[in-house]
Amino acid sequence: SVFNVIDPSSAAEDFGIDEKAVSYSGFQVWSVTIRSNAEREILRTIIDQYDVEVWKEPKTDKVTTTELLVVPQVQKELKVKLTQAGISYVIKINDLQAAIDNGNAKHNMSSLNTKAGHSMDWTSYHRLSDIYGYLSYLASTYPNRVELINIGTSYEKRPLYVVRIFNCSSPVVKPAIWIDGGIHAREWISPALATYIIRQLVEVPANAALLRNVDWYIMPVMNPDGYEYTHVSNRLWRKTRSVTSSTSCRGVDPNRNFGYKWGGLGTSTNPCSDVYKGTKAFSEPETLATSNFIKGKASSIKLYLTLHSYGQAALIPWGYDVVYPSDYSDMLALAKSAVSKFTKYRYSVGNAAALYYPAAGGSDDWAKSIGIKYSYTFELSDTGAYGFLLPASNILPVCQDFFPALDVFAAKVATLK
Ligand code: ARG
Ligand code: ZN
Repeated sequence: SVFNVIDPSSAAEDFGIDEKAVSYSGFQVWSVTIRSNAEREILRTIIDQYDVEVWKEPKTDKVTTTELLVVPQVQKELKVKLTQAGISYVIKINDLQAAIDNGNAKHNMSSLNTKAGHSMDWTSYHRLSDIYGYLSYLASTYPNRVELINIGTSYEKRPLYVVRIFNCSSPVVKPAIWIDGGIHAREWISPALATYIIRQLVEVPANAALLRNVDWYIMPVMNPDGYEYTHVSNRLWRKTRSVTSSTSCRGVDPNRNFGYKWGGLGTSTNPCSDVYKGTKAFSEPETLATSNFIKGKASSIKLYLTLHSYGQAALIPWGYDVVYPSDYSDMLALAKSAVSKFTKYRYSVGNAAALYYPAAGGSDDWAKSIGIKYSYTFELSDTGAYGFLLPASNILPVCQDFFPALDVFAAKVATLK
């Protein structure tokens, strides 16, 4: 989700914290409620003046809640400023490092040991090696249902994998659904859900009907370098890890790097920004390999789904600006019927730029632009209580709630040729 003004590690760097293991000790997340344009302007001034990072700017008609990452050094002053201006706020996360430390339960070894051949489960967030190990386990265990496709290599030379899930007893070319996760490194619930979907489709016989008329392409971790970086160095890293023209700042926002309306609203030319667009569209090996693969299958892929967090929203193109495709009502109807399957979490549905903010170069817009009619960004749980640091105990509830929506998508896609 999330429009970041400042690179998430830059605040830490400013205070001399070693980039090797960034600590967010004492950092807080504040939720600030804005009730008028005047208040919005005061807040903007404060944001520009102090070392705070905007985590989230969800919009409703009248009231806007903004979430800010506030470094310890400015908390006192900011409190005074907001209070003077009559702007109310609540402290959502009191100590960010504590939330990070509590967010990922120790792997449940007893449950893992019962599953020979891999070390994947959905009670904790896993390193890339567990995820990739699971994918190769599936490919070798179920060769008639699973194909592991290496579509390229990340900047730091990790393989980029897409899993094709199919039913080989009906060997016709079927319409297909694409799902990706992990475009943004810190949004850990996204690869967790993508791998859960893979498991359900491959290993749960009750879901066999989902393969009857539809093929599935699932890429659980589009940005593996960033993902690993969030596990070992900086939990709140968002971008890729490529070297930029700036000696101190790395990485491009992959979701500003796709080649449709590249460089428009909501993007930055500053390599230190968290929404840095890169030197050109598809400058990143991750977005280039992904887009080339999808383009090669564009005649069969009928639905593009990209998993992000957070906010609980289904976002519909266009996202580069508040512009509605001519078939928007079809896209809206399908999204509404999909989220109606959710029983535990409520999702809002709407135009990406209107519901969140305009942001160009997103993968959803690009997929729509090459003719994939149904293209969605799902912002998964939560709505801000933990944000990116959604505790691992939430993985299963989120996944179980989400999965039935795929019935709706598969049923629609099965009717498309
Ligand atoms: N949170 C996502 C991002 O900032 C939203 C993307 C929505 N799509 C879009 N094309 N703006 O990347
Ligand atoms: Zn994201």
